[in-house]
Amino acid sequence: MTHQFRAEIPKGSPEEGVSSSTRPPPWAARSPRLPRTERPGPEPCGAAPAAPPPQDPRIPLTVRQKFSISKSWKAIARAMDQTGVAMFVKLFEENKEFLALFEKLKHLETREAQEESEELKEHAVSVMNSLDEAINSLENVDQCIDFLRSVGKRHRKINGFKSEYFWKMEAPFLAAVKETLDDRYTENMESIYKTTIHFILQTVVDGFEDKPLQNSA
Ligand code: HEM
Repeated sequence: MTHQFRAEIPKGSPEEGVSSSTRPPPWAARSPRLPRTERPGPEPCGAAPAAPPPQDPRIPLTVRQKFSISKSWKAIARAMDQTGVAMFVKLFEENKEFLALFEKLKHLETREAQEESEELKEHAVSVMNSLDEAINSLENVDQCIDFLRSVGKRHRKINGFKSEYFWKMEAPFLAAVKETLDDRYTENMESIYKTTIHFILQTVVDGFEDKPLQNSA
């Protein structure tokens, strides 16, 4: 028995009003000899494949890039101490004047002292945990942005802190991630981490400066 659609559904029947996306499309009946893979249009079950959800323009990563970083970040999350300490040692190496802002760390004048300090490790892990929370919430854009802005805002209470200091974390972050990931830090991953840390730092800066929120629409 052949099935005809639309035209044969009598008025008032239970079929009437069923959305066209739940009915097999007309071509399914008209071209029975075409192999499924060559048929145009929706999947054979009759329902069009779900369109990918529109990407939120506030996150500058594609679906694939978000997937890649969440996978790659797992290796960093297993090495938070090592990566965080390496990041801070580099930050202080390149910006010696920052040490004075850290009440608990300002006595750590040499690289060796910094590498061995439990206090530095503790602070580094706390900063890495913030980055972890941001990277793990890239799918929940509002939550991710609110969180990063709140991190930025909390830096307002630090005497002498300026918003441009945040950007000084960019290179140390990338260098520390590279060191931890080693040969897993491919060119593709480097580009994804660069985009991600740029987005994170810009959002933290916006929170520090209390910039108006950008809507998703
Ligand atoms: C990715 C960028 C950064 C993140 C995610 C971050 C995160 C944090 C977190 C989680 C804390 C702990 C206390 C709190 O939350 O209020 C903190 C404190 C602090 N941060 Fe940052 N931070 C960043 C960049 C920087 C930079 C570049 C500096 C450079 C000077 C800095 C200076 C400080 C200072 C001085 C404190 C206070 C430390 C204390 O308690 O003695 N932060 N930051």
